[in-house]
Amino acid sequence: MRRTIVAANWKMNGDKAEVAELLNGFKAQLDTNKADVVVFAPAVFLPKLETELADSAIQFGGQNAWTEPKGAFTGELSLGMLKEFGCTYVLVGHSERRTIFGESDELVAAKTKAALDAGVTPMLCIGETLEEREEGVTEKVVTEQVQAVIDVIGVEALADTVIAYEPVWAIGTGKTATAEQAQEVHAAIRAFIAKQSAEVAEKVQILYGGSVKAASAAELFAKPDVDGGLVGGASLLVEEFAGIVAAA
Ligand code: 13P
Repeated sequence: MRRTIVAANWKMNGDKAEVAELLNGFKAQLDTNKADVVVFAPAVFLPKLETELADSAIQFGGQNAWTEPKGAFTGELSLGMLKEFGCTYVLVGHSERRTIFGESDELVAAKTKAALDAGVTPMLCIGETLEEREEGVTEKVVTEQVQAVIDVIGVEALADTVIAYEPVWAIGTGKTATAEQAQEVHAAIRAFIAKQSAEVAEKVQILYGGSVKAASAAELFAKPDVDGGLVGGASLLVEEFAGIVAAA
């Protein structure tokens, strides 16, 4: 039985006061018996999360990291640094990193491997653009994104990652994929992995992301291959995010 994960991706949002308020709200209102809860915060707030969440079941992670353990990589963070500040997860390959910052499948795969090597769980984001969906190549795009990672880490190690399927057209647009659309792609990803390892396919958690709201979460999470959600905008609102966790 795969446990549900509900993750908050705050992206580049928040200030000291807002983060303090969100953390207080999360600690008071999130039911961590329902699901594993993970917060991806901007790096400068991670020490604050480390302190505030020390006695909480809420886990947290970085939104990005570099592949190398240290050195001349101005502006980057290592996985060892994230780990030292208590991060158990790191986002890898978010569509905003792929499109705005030009991260390739190869770089995403290298980051996934570096995270596994460092003992930080990579949450691997994949997803198709609107044009790709309209061309009917969604399954091809997402399975190629998964295969690029398998090529580097091997299929067995995929069981130690979490996959987040985030259709690019549904991110920040208010257009959630229907629960049926999400299930269809999640099932296709799982079937693709199963051809290489049935055991890994059964074990790996696949989250859905893209305009998830409290009102849509229960239907999404009820689908057999949807193991939780990666939530952007709605994770900056305590009540709304608590509603999503409660739907798990
Ligand atoms: P929204 O929930 O704001 O659409 O963002 C989804 C996302 O990109 C989470 O990583």
